[in-house]
Amino acid sequence: MRVQIDTGLCTGHGQCEANAPEVFALDDRGFAVTPDAELPAGLAEEARFGAQACPERAITVHVDER
Ligand code: F3S
Repeated sequence: MRVQIDTGLCTGHGQCEANAPEVFALDDRGFAVTPDAELPAGLAEEARFGAQACPERAITVHVDER
């Protein structure tokens, strides 16, 4: 499972990190940082929750359906 953040859309609302702190982190300026690593599939629901909380719709969640 991976999350992708469109840095061109992110304006630093911080709702992703507030709603899904195990998945998202913010940089020094309050913008979302894309996790490099593959995340455990068990975090997919939280990732979707955080993505839906983003007012800019800057987050895409990719889940391997295997
Ligand atoms: Fe950015 Fe959206 Fe999070 S604007 S900081 S990706 S809530």
